[in-house]
Amino acid sequence: MTDKNTSVHFHVETDDDNIVWLHFDKANSGTNVLGADVFEQLDEHLQNIATQCPRGLVILSDKSNGFIAGADISSFTSVKSEQQALDFVKMGQAVFNRLAAFPFPTVALIHGFCLGGGTELSLACRYRVTRDDPGTRLGLPEVRLGIHPGWGGSARLVPLIGGLKAMDLILSGRTIDGRQAKRMGMVDRVVPERHMRTAARQLILDAPAPFRAGLIDRLSNNVIVRPLLARVFRTQVAKKAAIQHYPAPYAMIDIWRKHANNQHDMLEAEAQSLAKLINGATAQNLVRVFFLQEELKSLGKDKHYKPKYVHVIGAGTMGGDIAAWCALRGFRVTLQDQAPERIAPAMKRAHRLYKRKLKKPIKIREAMDRLIPDHKGLGVERADIVIEAIFEDAEVKRSLYKEIEPRMKQDAMLATNTSSIPLEELSSALSQPGRLVGLHFFNPVAMMQLVEVVVGKSTSEESVAHAMTFTRQIDRLPLPVSSTPGFLVNRILMPYLMEAVVLESEGIPATIIDKAAVDFGMPMGPVELADTVGLDICLHVAEILAEHFNATIPERLRKLVDAGKLGKKSGQGFYPYKKGKAVKPKASASPGDIEAVTNRLMLRMLNEAMSCLREQVVSSDSLLDAGMIFGTGFAPFRGGPMHYIDATGADKLKQILIGLEQQQGNRFTPDPAWDTTSGGDKA
Ligand code: NAI
Repeated sequence: MTDKNTSVHFHVETDDDNIVWLHFDKANSGTNVLGADVFEQLDEHLQNIATQCPRGLVILSDKSNGFIAGADISSFTSVKSEQQALDFVKMGQAVFNRLAAFPFPTVALIHGFCLGGGTELSLACRYRVTRDDPGTRLGLPEVRLGIHPGWGGSARLVPLIGGLKAMDLILSGRTIDGRQAKRMGMVDRVVPERHMRTAARQLILDAPAPFRAGLIDRLSNNVIVRPLLARVFRTQVAKKAAIQHYPAPYAMIDIWRKHANNQHDMLEAEAQSLAKLINGATAQNLVRVFFLQEELKSLGKDKHYKPKYVHVIGAGTMGGDIAAWCALRGFRVTLQDQAPERIAPAMKRAHRLYKRKLKKPIKIREAMDRLIPDHKGLGVERADIVIEAIFEDAEVKRSLYKEIEPRMKQDAMLATNTSSIPLEELSSALSQPGRLVGLHFFNPVAMMQLVEVVVGKSTSEESVAHAMTFTRQIDRLPLPVSSTPGFLVNRILMPYLMEAVVLESEGIPATIIDKAAVDFGMPMGPVELADTVGLDICLHVAEILAEHFNATIPERLRKLVDAGKLGKKSGQGFYPYKKGKAVKPKASASPGDIEAVTNRLMLRMLNEAMSCLREQVVSSDSLLDAGMIFGTGFAPFRGGPMHYIDATGADKLKQILIGLEQQQGNRFTPDPAWDTTSGGDKA
């Protein structure tokens, strides 16, 4: 190698074959992302390289975690106008257009993350080489942030692999590995790490004709086919996201339908539409959700805590699934219950989970080997973490703790999955009460990202830090909450569910109640949610909360439970169930009626959120929002309950609450915290 220049984010090497190697290594950042300063430097380098007339150019990353993770998302939050957003988009387009126009061969050498803007940069190269491993991921996940590609991602991918495959990738936002990308034609070579440079060099020296999509793929961009396909895409997208909440995928479909055969027009349309979207509420709120997730992730970063061995007691609904999940994430896990036959169903469920997640028989066997049935509880002595998930009975839990504590390692952590018992009531049975912490998982464990880390009065700081780090190690999001009844998520969710039951008892069809919530942006209506959780479990949690907060439980709920109508699991709850699906009778209501239902549901939830914040169940607005988004799926495009209150105006919402209090009684009495909230948008 000869001639070495350096700059802040890039450095350039030119080898003996006159091939330029442009290394991207963003300064002061663990990950390569694309912001204005990066584009400026990249453009300067590209201009210099063009004057060198090299044999070819290879763009590669010096970061071990990947090529380029996408746009610098923090730059979205500083966008103040559509024009500013448009300037930023056009800046990126100009740089990538320069790259795409080079007369000599260009290669993107890809390992690890290659997402969003990273994939767009690679598409502006003539060839793409990826490392052959599952950790190399390509994709255009912009729709997940409420936007769509704008730096030529769609304008270049659509002609390369055809509209059908390109739009599927863009509209789903899913990522693919190198082999999948190669099958689609998005990537030219997939090679082991040690052959990557050789593969890139060879492509430049040989300069083969670039990939050309097959006839059928090209046909999907045909002017006659596009309107028909666009209709199919819209129908598919509508099943997952309403246009008024998530406009980006719909905008993308329109751009493709109108401009798929004209790259210049498509780039222009991408830029105009993206600028509008970046500046809109949905994208700004989804970016907020991205940062909330980062905030939760950052809570569990104790590098020195390295547990290896987990022991779970109670192999029921929760314990069985928690144990299976921990083994999936690489821990050795022993699973204890009162008898072997109680553990067997959990082992079967674990096998199903591994088949779904791991696919390869060898990986499934390895995960099954890590999960060890242990009805005698021998694992207690070796465990770094003991997770208790037995019956919800304080006395039974206490006597278990008395029995196991003397056998536990001196520094082992004890975690309980209790959903309602204050930790202080349980830790009194321990000689080291500081080691007890709550790890409150949600059902189904494999799907719910959030884990409430319950901090009791006696829980030691070390146990809290360890619990949060462990939660990250099993790829879940930790939310520290105080040990108060219902913690955060169930406490806020329950008044909303109970209001749904009251509405239903008043004769409002369940279908309408659910529609109101889904229209607001909830992933599932409250009636169907109650049926899915199980009406007996809802009643149990409601009873605990009612006792502490002096609330009334609707008679209708008790009656259904007494009649054995427990929801989905018993085949009948508020809805009847056929093959596990709710049979929802058709019903209609005027927009005014729907709004009245939405107000009653959402204001009970928001009022409880205010009360939780006042009592410091969590320490900040943003943690509350994160808890509700990742624990219940609260409309992400609204940025969380507290953000919704800020954006709508606390005063306005309080007035609606006062009206409801007069109409419906004191369950709508505004919490005192409404008076101390500004009502302005803090975003
Ligand atoms: P479950 O009834 O399905 O399972 C409990 C298991 O614990 C049973 O298999 C039982 O045999 C076993 N067990 C009881 N005493 C034992 C002992 N002394 N030693 C060993 N095993 C013992 O209960 P589920 O639903 O899994 O709940 C467990 C805990 O998780 C409870 O504290 C509950 O409040 C909490 N939780 C439940 C959620 C749910 O949706 N079911 C959600 C979050 C927390």
